[in-house]
Amino acid sequence: MNRMKVIVIGGGGREHALAWKLARDSRHPELFCAPGNAGTAALGTNLPIKAEDLDGLLQWSKTNRPDLTVVGPEAPLCAGIADRFQAEGLRVFGPCRAAAQLEGSKQFSKDVMAAAGVPTARAMVFTEAGAAKAYVRQQGAPIVVKADGLAAGKGVTVAATVAAAEAAIDEALVRRAFGDAGNRVLVEECLVGEEASSLALLDGQRVVLLAAAQDHKRIGDGDTGPNTGGMGAYSPAPVVTADLLPFIRTRVFEPMLRELQRRGITYQGLLYAGLMLTADGPKVLEFNCRFGDPETQAILPRWEGDLLPALEACIDGTLDERLVRWKPAPCVCVVLAAGGYPGPYAQGDAISGLEAAAQAPDALVFHAGTALRDGRAVTAGGRVLGVTALGADLGAAVRNAYAAADRIKFNKMQYRRDIAWRALKST
Ligand code: AMP
Ligand code: GLY
Repeated sequence: MNRMKVIVIGGGGREHALAWKLARDSRHPELFCAPGNAGTAALGTNLPIKAEDLDGLLQWSKTNRPDLTVVGPEAPLCAGIADRFQAEGLRVFGPCRAAAQLEGSKQFSKDVMAAAGVPTARAMVFTEAGAAKAYVRQQGAPIVVKADGLAAGKGVTVAATVAAAEAAIDEALVRRAFGDAGNRVLVEECLVGEEASSLALLDGQRVVLLAAAQDHKRIGDGDTGPNTGGMGAYSPAPVVTADLLPFIRTRVFEPMLRELQRRGITYQGLLYAGLMLTADGPKVLEFNCRFGDPETQAILPRWEGDLLPALEACIDGTLDERLVRWKPAPCVCVVLAAGGYPGPYAQGDAISGLEAAAQAPDALVFHAGTALRDGRAVTAGGRVLGVTALGADLGAAVRNAYAAADRIKFNKMQYRRDIAWRALKST
């Protein structure tokens, strides 16, 4: 019998975690990754095709006929990779273009939330700086300014003052720092509370929640300094208590699914809700149309059994709670970043200690921004590695992750020493 062929699109820590989990599936699929990184190279074949190169990916897939394509990042989903693959009879995990606009356009996302009655921050949309600033002055600070489109995580300013909000408006609408993604801005009420990431699988009809996670967006310990793509994550997130789950299911995910359906859009794939747990209950900060990064690195090691059946059930419309089971052990992912990140950073530096780290108790080393040079891993991105560990309890998982991280070295390596601090503080 031919081995099942699976291709993972993307090349970050999330994609290494997905490929790692798929490699352990009982069907032992033959894995491809486009473009992948030094970590995925050890699990299958890396293809020199960028995640945004839809023509290149389609061409490869029409020739090689993978049984399943799993899309990691948002850019190809928002550009319609799922629609194009399906049109060629290729099976793909990830929502169609129209559904992916929940991440691709914050205005669209707000419209759907409003129609579905999903709790979220009050917001107004502007295309003109003067009107946006007048609204900011009327509302006062703190206030949040967001570019409407995809801005690689850089389009959001939580402004402590009216002046900072006005500067963010100019940045998007006048200086056009985000290009067309900043043609419109949302000016949004500032919510207060603890954040959590709630990920769910959707098959067009049903919702199955995954274990909740929390990530750490700021570069510095104690959640200080500029925002990043995420400096670490852990799962489960104790702030997402069991009594919140019915609310998240019935007031967030199910109404979104139904409202999209009403608009003729079927959501099949993973939907990620960034939540603020406010005094008035959970409110949605944003939706993402794909797995979180680095949340996925902390969630998938806890996944009990095979992942493939759950992904396929989303495509086939046969999703079932029984396909998703969790190990009780908590999991922690610590991101090792290049010095200077989230600003400019060096690339091509040798990484040592990878094998020693992977042998540390209960540890897994997920590659993010790495590449192979003469058969050895070198740095090739801002977030370089996600050192991940399970533990008997959260404290043990944290200790295991840091014990592994301490074995790794590269020039100007930086990482946060306090991943999971909020949860540890509350226990
Ligand atoms: P987003 O990309 O929309 O998730 O925003 C990035 C980060 O900005 C979030 O993780 C929050 O920390 C913060 N943020 C976004 N929207 C709000 C809001 N309405 N109130 C307070 N903080 C927010
Ligand atoms: N960790 C945040 C994200 O994946 O968007």
